[in-house]
Amino acid sequence: MKNILVTGGAGFIGSNFVQYILDHSDIIRVVNLDLLTYAGNLANLKGCENDERYHFVRGDIRDRELLKQLFSEYEIDTVVHFAAESHVDRSITEPEIFLSTNVLGTQALLDVAKDSWKIEPDNKYSREYREAVRFLQVSTDEVYGALGKEGMFTEVTPMAPNSPYSASKASADMVVRAYHNTFGLPINITRCSNNYGPYQFPEKLIPLMIHNAQNDKSLPVYGDGMQVRDWLHVKDHCAAIWTVLQKGRIGEVYNVGGNNEKANIEIVKLILKQLGKPESLIEYVQDRPGHDRRYAIDNTKITTELGWQPEYTFEQGIEETIEWYLQNSEWVENVTSGDYLQYYELMYN
Ligand code: NAD
Ligand code: TYD
Repeated sequence: MKNILVTGGAGFIGSNFVQYILDHSDIIRVVNLDLLTYAGNLANLKGCENDERYHFVRGDIRDRELLKQLFSEYEIDTVVHFAAESHVDRSITEPEIFLSTNVLGTQALLDVAKDSWKIEPDNKYSREYREAVRFLQVSTDEVYGALGKEGMFTEVTPMAPNSPYSASKASADMVVRAYHNTFGLPINITRCSNNYGPYQFPEKLIPLMIHNAQNDKSLPVYGDGMQVRDWLHVKDHCAAIWTVLQKGRIGEVYNVGGNNEKANIEIVKLILKQLGKPESLIEYVQDRPGHDRRYAIDNTKITTELGWQPEYTFEQGIEETIEWYLQNSEWVENVTSGDYLQYYELMYN
């Protein structure tokens, strides 16, 4: 692993990952390909700008000519594919872009990786690839659908996505699997639970609630607030991806969870408590259509096979995260001005 292409590296998890590999590895080159949609922000990458191993390219994962050029110019041998439309609520109002970016974008990347890495690209029967190449698809536990009170998702849980977002991620995972089975492309898929931590765009639960509480705005809790998510600190997620790249068996799926199941309302109350704000700010609003009741991840495969473990407890992680948002008010102000205000009006008023 020398030259790594990170797609969506200006988003929340991607930017944390770019910083993580520059800090933790002797990788030669990190090329960050990002379209800079509303969710992409170069301010997330300030710490990397002076590292000569880091290269930023603004572009679309659906642009095959650009992809071919990047694979050849930077001699890419590893792809970590984060780029996606990632917000469930947006997928309910605008599903088309989710299918276009998440499914067709993934397929474009797979095609270019296959043709660049295959020893005999024109021979459809050949399954030989250059040494040590790998395509890692960053996916989500949401592809498995919803759980009741009991049970956990394992890697063999059948996919049953319920939102246009999770359906697009499940479709992309299927295409990645097919490129492995049909063409022998060396792949891994990771499916993680809800991430939290620095640089998350305040349309997702935790940063949105911190932002509203800080500004004494109401905190919109969907339905009864008893939906359960498993929370994974973004740094633990980055470490898990790095572990899979180094030790994961080719062709395998690995679930990644934080062992932190919480009901949404618990998190909202915790945020209010830590910020010293009253619970009267909570406003129960109409539930999200098709809202998945519970997600929970069984980590057994990645912990026993690859030795990865989440290190953050939720209590430590949420405290640090709240502190980060308090200390980085300029970052928050920049991302919540302009288009964000329109988005907020549309979704919540
Ligand atoms: P994000 O929305 O913060 O970032 C997505 C990034 O992709 C942005 O920088 C955006 O500019 C870029 N992008 C979008 N369309 C693009 C295109 N066509 N070409 C190039 N770049 C494009 O997302 P995130 O929360 O960092 O999630 C990253 C990945 O992890 C996604 O694939 C998501 O499905 C997955 N995931 C996220 C979570 C979570 O809790 N955030 C949980 C499970 C899985
Ligand atoms: P979100 O952060 O959008 O992640 P996901 O839908 O991918 O799990 O939402 C996390 C949970 O919080 C989910 O059950 C929906 C709920 N939620 C609210 O109650 N209010 C909100 O304003 C948002 C954004 C989410």
